[in-house]
Amino acid sequence: MDRRLLSLLTILALGRVGYAAGPEVEYPSGFRQWAHVKSMVIYSDKHPLFGQFGGFHSVYVNPKGLPAMTKGGSFPDGSVLVFDLLEAREENGAYVEGSRKLIGVMVKDRQRYKVAGGWGFEAFKGDSRTERTVTDATAECFACHQKQKANDFVYSGFRP
Ligand code: HEC
Repeated sequence: MDRRLLSLLTILALGRVGYAAGPEVEYPSGFRQWAHVKSMVIYSDKHPLFGQFGGFHSVYVNPKGLPAMTKGGSFPDGSVLVFDLLEAREENGAYVEGSRKLIGVMVKDRQRYKVAGGWGFEAFKGDSRTERTVTDATAECFACHQKQKANDFVYSGFRP
């Protein structure tokens, strides 16, 4: 094999080390203008997600993923789902939205994210568009979303 080609392939292979489930997921710019799927407050450790995702979250879907979210079926490539997690503050007998803790993102691309059911997973800290927190998407995200295989690895259902 041509030596330059070989070193190029080596660079490509090394570039993928450290992110077990495929290439980088883009920050989902403008997601607050997308369709709102549902919301939920996780406020106590009675809930299994409290440690990792305790707070007030809303789920959003981009226009590409909206038909699958509302009618069912598998999501087409280019679908993006966002889990927007805020602090839940207790105020005068109400739970109100506090500052943003993180956003979790799922991007559908069957080719790029083959190893994780066709979904790329990432989380961005607080309001940051660059501070990524996922180091092993398969272990940190897909291991749990895998249980939803029958629903294209998605938990949320659209609330009409
Ligand atoms: C222990 C299980 C678990 C783990 C680990 C987990 N999730 Fe989720 N995720 C859920 C559940 C349950 C929901 C649905 C929440 C709801 O109903 O409002 C969800 C919802 C989501 C959604 C909205 C779409 C959907 O499937 O409902 C995104 C996006 C998301 N998670 C991303 C991530 C990312 C990124 C990671 C890794 C950092 C991750 N998740 C790790 C259980 C998990």
